[in-house]
Amino acid sequence: MTEHRRTALAVILAAGEGTRMKSALPKVLHPVAGLPMVAHVVRAAVAAGVDAVAIVVGRGAEEVRNAAVPFAPGAETYLQTERLGTAHAVLAAHEAIARGYDDIVVLFGDTPLLSPKAINDARHALTLGPAVAVMGFHTDHPDGYGRLIVDRGELVAIREHKDCSADERRITFCNGGVMAIKGKHALSLIGEVGNHNSKGEYYLTDIVQMARDRYLPVVATEASSENVLGINTRVELAEAEALWQAKARREMMLSGVTLVDPSSVFLSWDTRIGAETTIEPHVFFGRGVTVGEGASIHAFSHLEKCTVGAGAEIGPYARLRPDADIGEGAKVGNFVEIKKARLGPGAKVNHLTYIGDAEIGAKANIGAGTITCNYDGYNKHRTVIGEGAFVGSNSALVAPVTIGKNAYVGSGSVITDDIADDALGIGRARQVNKEGLAKRLRARLAAEKAAKSGIV
Ligand code: UD1
Ligand code: MG
Repeated sequence: MTEHRRTALAVILAAGEGTRMKSALPKVLHPVAGLPMVAHVVRAAVAAGVDAVAIVVGRGAEEVRNAAVPFAPGAETYLQTERLGTAHAVLAAHEAIARGYDDIVVLFGDTPLLSPKAINDARHALTLGPAVAVMGFHTDHPDGYGRLIVDRGELVAIREHKDCSADERRITFCNGGVMAIKGKHALSLIGEVGNHNSKGEYYLTDIVQMARDRYLPVVATEASSENVLGINTRVELAEAEALWQAKARREMMLSGVTLVDPSSVFLSWDTRIGAETTIEPHVFFGRGVTVGEGASIHAFSHLEKCTVGAGAEIGPYARLRPDADIGEGAKVGNFVEIKKARLGPGAKVNHLTYIGDAEIGAKANIGAGTITCNYDGYNKHRTVIGEGAFVGSNSALVAPVTIGKNAYVGSGSVITDDIADDALGIGRARQVNKEGLAKRLRARLAAEKAAKSGIV
């Protein structure tokens, strides 16, 4: 006989006010590693293999929905119109729960480090008999968390920080915010939660005691504290970021990437870097960056939504903005900014340059101080530079403009007309030299100065 596979619904609570963040942005949208906290939680639920996801939204409902749903296609969202507590929030997803799942896993949208394993550990605990499994963790800083009250090895209640006695506040075993409930008991337990507590809220955590009152067994599992950090303030947000970064840097190095000074490199949740690439100190990766193998990202570079080909060299002090696409073996040097532009293989843009809305052919060489003048105040225009072209220093390329293959641009040019393949374009005033004029000028200036100081 094949064993019955247990079905699960994850209910993710993301409606809260997040008052303690003191922010106009809903709390669960504050990012960790460039991704809103709630999206981290949704990804963990999906990775844990739940069958359906229900997200409870309230404050900033539309934005929260847009941030979360793409990570769990088919996820449903439910509106909690008033913020009356975590039990009340779960009931907003009443309809989904009533469809009938073996397990209901309640997750909080403010625990961005949550691991799929913690979710599955809580679910696994249910298979051993209990009606409710709570994920606990030990911490030296329990302030703000609900305390797990354990008596003779059994979980008897969860007491919220504000409702704890002085003795209970010394308990360091806390509620990590993952609760697995057998589906058949979920609605009746949660539906009976009252709000007689110091905050006047309907606490989900009360179902522990209620289940015991019905002689239903409850159990606490244990997770490591890094996986369950609940974010209520910006201080905790920074702690979560630091923990996330430390883990991601380690994984990056173990995959074959050299981070010379790991603690000064910031990665995003989706940063991808090929093996044998070296990242120097103080490099920031915004969202959506892919770097190929054997590349070098030199110090103080800032990259966002861009692609860097194998063996390319970036920086120091380079800025790659959205849709920069740097070909294999290309070089982008110091104080160079590149936006929405493709640099062909082996092309070089080495110093003090802005390239925007452009296509640069393979092995082209763009001299110091070149600017693509892509914006006229109303519209953006494209610059196309052919393979092997050479743009002399301090040139302004006024787009739309095309520079042909192997063409040459004289230094200091303002190029407004297209240049054909193999042609030379110069757009600047012609130089005039006057013999002896410098000498005569010096003599005159010296005489004038002497006259002014009274020496004849
Ligand atoms: C909660 C737990 C606490 C646990 C801690 C773990 C309760 C009563 N307390 O406390 O035991 O140690 O998390 O981080 O469950 N939310 C709603 N609607 C509401 C209220 C909250 O959707 O009406 C959402 C919030 O957006 C948040 C989550 O539920 O994502 C938890 O709410 P929060 O106010 O942060 O609870 P804590 O005080 O952290
Ligand atoms: Mg919280």
